[in-house]
Amino acid sequence: MLVELLLFSLVLLNCICNGNAGVTSAFVRNEWPSVDIALDDQAIAVPKGYNAPQQVHITQGDNDGKAVIVSWITADEPGSNKVRYGLSDGKYHFTAEGSMQKYTFYNYTSGYIHHCLLDGLQYDTKYYYEVEAGNSSRRFWFQTPPPIDLDAPYRFGIIGDLGQTYNSLSTLEHSAQLGAETILYVGDLSYADRYKYHDVGVRWDSWGRLAERSAAYQPWIWVAGNHEIEYFPYMGEVIPFRNYAYRYPTPHHTSGSNNPLWYAVRRASAHIIVLSTYSPFVKYTPQWSWLQEEFERVDRVKTPWLIVLMHAPMYNSYNSHFMEGESMRVVFESWFCRYKVDVVFAGHVHAYERSYRVSNIKYNVSSGSSYAAPDKSAPVYITVGDGGNKGGLATSFKYPQPNYCAFREASYGHSTLEIKNRTHALYHWNRNDDGKRVPTDQMVLHNQYWWCRRSNGRRRTKRNNQSK
Ligand SMILES: *[C@@H]1O[C@H](CO)[C@@H](O)[C@H](O)[C@H]1NC(C)=O
Ligand SMILES: *[C@@H]1O[C@H](CO)[C@@H](O)[C@H](O)[C@H]1NC(C)=O
Ligand SMILES: *[C@@H]1O[C@H](CO)[C@@H](O)[C@H](O)[C@H]1NC(C)=O
Ligand SMILES: *[C@@H]1O[C@H](CO)[C@@H](O)[C@H](O)[C@H]1NC(C)=O
Ligand SMILES: [Fe+2]
Repeated sequence: MLVELLLFSLVLLNCICNGNAGVTSAFVRNEWPSVDIALDDQAIAVPKGYNAPQQVHITQGDNDGKAVIVSWITADEPGSNKVRYGLSDGKYHFTAEGSMQKYTFYNYTSGYIHHCLLDGLQYDTKYYYEVEAGNSSRRFWFQTPPPIDLDAPYRFGIIGDLGQTYNSLSTLEHSAQLGAETILYVGDLSYADRYKYHDVGVRWDSWGRLAERSAAYQPWIWVAGNHEIEYFPYMGEVIPFRNYAYRYPTPHHTSGSNNPLWYAVRRASAHIIVLSTYSPFVKYTPQWSWLQEEFERVDRVKTPWLIVLMHAPMYNSYNSHFMEGESMRVVFESWFCRYKVDVVFAGHVHAYERSYRVSNIKYNVSSGSSYAAPDKSAPVYITVGDGGNKGGLATSFKYPQPNYCAFREASYGHSTLEIKNRTHALYHWNRNDDGKRVPTDQMVLHNQYWWCRRSNGRRRTKRNNQSK
């Protein structure tokens, strides 16, 4: 109720500020300088102990939330590929064994990279796990999601473009206070590509240690961004996504994808589709064919919430990266409307933005209106590229504010999506400095499939306008 009130005042505010267009926030954040955390800083320290596992991170390991992939790196020697786990701390009844690889990148040689699948887990259960490394094992925990279910509540955190500055650390610390159960990470991880030669690998390692404070406990659902491409002819490193691919596996096989860069997972009441902006996606490519089939596999009776993640936003009203998502919009937007995607999260632009429900699918090169128009079947597009990386903030807005833009602010921050049941989800965007859930930007998302089904007449129209 309180939320609806706040939302209503936000809508009023919109009208006062800018006619039908949205709000451009005048908030100016006091940011720390956008410099990377020094390698000898405690925040990214190598854990103590000979060959201690470092850069521990987990991600979903299957299509429905009963498996987890645990990844870690040992620096000195291969160590064990084993994870021991169980239902109480220090008592591990199960053991899983994974695999190990290492690689070289120019004159950098990685540590021993381990990936281990823990499967057949029980839903809704806290597991404790120990990453074995002989002399210096380390202990963590994770919580499995509730079973796939129509009304399963769940809380996602959304972070993008994190990098490894003091602003990045602040994003992680504030995000942790909001109790997200899983992080949807919308691409651009380490920004190690801003270094050269040996330091590229070194900065992938330091990022892994920075993210561990969250990623060892909450699964991160990975999306690849442009900073993962790392096409470096000057070093003879010309295979895209190499550092990323060795370190951050995804369960792409379990959704029939032939490539780790695009895939889908189901978790609680959500069906999450991950797309790759920087892989071929036009008609007849593997990504296009896979997505066409994946949309057909979505069952809103099991997973009412349909969420799409990508790196470059399709709707962006900043000068930074303006229209870079346009080619993907042309190819996929009509599907997003046809399959009634609830929300699309992207990153890339180092700022925050939320759209109204709009589409631009009537336009084609020979006729039709070329402007985005209100469309009740369209998703809400949200850009959360404001994790805090070295590039600093995108502060230059397009004026006049385009009609598709509901709210924009050039600050560092992160979001939460709290699914309540099949019809309602609460969405917040938080500035870094806001540890609590303050209504910097928030809305009630009504499910695009179920909300229309369960109500009709005036009430429905009114509500839809409100959540536009
Ligand atoms: C690691 O453990 C092995 C076996 O327990 C022991 O022999 C070795 O000395 C230890 N190494 C270090 C550096 O602690
Ligand atoms: C890696 O190569 C660069 C450029 O050739 C060189 O400056 C650097 O010293 C090398 N580093 C190591 C650790 O080999
Ligand atoms: C192009 O747009 C016009 C107007 O919206 C529409 O009538 C026509 O069917 C479209 N053509 C194609 C090939 O999509
Ligand atoms: C769904 O959640 C919303 C928000 O918490 C609540 O108002 C609504 O009554 C719930 N609907 C059902 C069917 O439980
Ligand atoms: Fe990017």
